[in-house]
Amino acid sequence: MTPSQATATHPPDTAPNATATHPVFAAQVLEGLSAQPKRIPSTWFYDHRGSELFEQITTLDEYYLTRSETALLRGLHAEFSSLPAGAAVIEFGSGSSRKTPLLLDALRTPASYTAIDISGDFLRQSVRGLQLRYPRLDVHALEADFSAPLQWPPALAAAVQRQPRIGFFPGSTIGNFTPEQAVRFLHGAAVFLGPGAQLLVGVDGTQNKARLLPAYDDARGVTAAFNRNLLTRINRELGADFNPQAFRHVARFDAVHSRVEMHLMSPAPQTVHLLGQRFQFDAAETLHTENSYKYPAMMFQRLARSAGWTPQKHWLAADADVALHLLQC
Ligand code: AVI
Repeated sequence: MTPSQATATHPPDTAPNATATHPVFAAQVLEGLSAQPKRIPSTWFYDHRGSELFEQITTLDEYYLTRSETALLRGLHAEFSSLPAGAAVIEFGSGSSRKTPLLLDALRTPASYTAIDISGDFLRQSVRGLQLRYPRLDVHALEADFSAPLQWPPALAAAVQRQPRIGFFPGSTIGNFTPEQAVRFLHGAAVFLGPGAQLLVGVDGTQNKARLLPAYDDARGVTAAFNRNLLTRINRELGADFNPQAFRHVARFDAVHSRVEMHLMSPAPQTVHLLGQRFQFDAAETLHTENSYKYPAMMFQRLARSAGWTPQKHWLAADADVALHLLQC
């Protein structure tokens, strides 16, 4: 594979305002396409269509993660009822908050719920739904990127200050960070939640390739559409000229790094134009779009310890190596 080429101004920029309207997205895509191997952070999957496609993925037969974690949460009702009463529940990357009631219903009279998500629309919608369902719960939305250090808005800090804090990070989303980013996130969560807080994290530890590969390359092609939608988004928001159908969805398991990788592979040589630059794809060259790290229980506990948490308990799903870890700081 030869190094990628990024040459100047051809053809004319088709989205002259893209760097102004989407500066971080533009910068990360330009940087990623100029890198070798080419890559784009998976956080950019989640535009409106990407979020819809991800919701569809969670219902697929092959995608065991959501089903197993949901069943596990349901079965832990009695365990959660021994967590502190009157707690402030803080959910990182709350998305549609679909799993939140499984925790809230099990806790003894939770006092407040704070949803943290970068997608403001999604956040406000799910928080409205939860407030209707739990009229007596003090519900808050914090629109923020939880992969960076978080700050409590003063009014919110005052509201939850005296409540025992329970962080909630389900869905194995921690697997989409690199291990270094995961440690940084866990450390940041400890600082944000404060001493004595607990954190409940969903983690997939599956190592079985026969189970993993169909989960990330399903028969109906929903995951392939989810992966290609990233190119559609780049075309729309940054004015690129990717032909998404000219890229093949690839999922592979890297046992050394214990991660599933998703790529978009160009079967033939092709050139893509973006923001006045040209990017050459060689035959079989890939654009790396996602890592999904799989941490068996002991491996995750080590990671959590190195971020300042003490593992208290973990529970394994009956039908998969999907775990919920309860940590204390
Ligand atoms: C959001 N995240 C935990 C999913 C995962 O399994 O890594 C994203 C996903 N990618 C492909 N399918 C699902």
